[in-house]
Amino acid sequence: MRIIVVDNYKEMSKKAAAMIASQIILKPNSVLGLATGDTPLGMYKELIEMYDMKQIDFREVKSFNLDEYYGLEKENSQSYHHYMIKNFFSNINIDKEKINIPNGKAKNIKKECENYDKKISDSGNIDIQVLGIGVNGHIGFNEPSVDFKAGTHLVELDEKTIKSNSRFFNSIEDVPTKAISMGIKTIMNSKKIVLLANGKGKADAIFKTVKGKICPEVPASVLQFHNDVTIILDKEAAGKLES
Ligand code: PGA
Repeated sequence: MRIIVVDNYKEMSKKAAAMIASQIILKPNSVLGLATGDTPLGMYKELIEMYDMKQIDFREVKSFNLDEYYGLEKENSQSYHHYMIKNFFSNINIDKEKINIPNGKAKNIKKECENYDKKISDSGNIDIQVLGIGVNGHIGFNEPSVDFKAGTHLVELDEKTIKSNSRFFNSIEDVPTKAISMGIKTIMNSKKIVLLANGKGKADAIFKTVKGKICPEVPASVLQFHNDVTIILDKEAAGKLES
């Protein structure tokens, strides 16, 4: 694991965007694995700026998002489809046909999940996967007690995740209790992984991910087994690493 500690959120976002940009410059038809949540918002802004300045071109890029809430329409303002279009895709020249996000309303969820993994492997696997991390150590929506061998699947959201994500909804009752998520196996097949974390609230999860035992109770700890992981942290998220 390569750990990069920077001063603040802006620097974290710039470094992450630089990694994505260099991936696209070196391989214009790269396959990107993308994440939602608060953490990558700054990175998306930086990438949009680079696109506006004609430093990168997304025309040939293909993308796969990590997850989507189960039961939400794409058009719902809380869906990850909506988030991605609003915060990234509508601002760059990615081909709509090359965007992939799990369909939370799919009639046959098992098939939806199998097809999602197949599409990823048929694309030659993800070149670079961006990850945030939950306060409980989740990656994607792979919650504690995860099965490390699972591919994309339907997950029950952890209580902590529902509580944390309720900030985006009118009330906690509105937060979906299930989601479709790439599994750990899907994520681990990515050629490169970049995990971002900022703020004190993530310090414990980062400590356990980097220095703790590899165990299903801390899903991100499995990344210790991957041979190309870069973790970019602000000082607060890195706060427990030096003790
Ligand atoms: P956040 O979520 O970026 O909104 O903190 C990260 C996650 O839960 O994976």
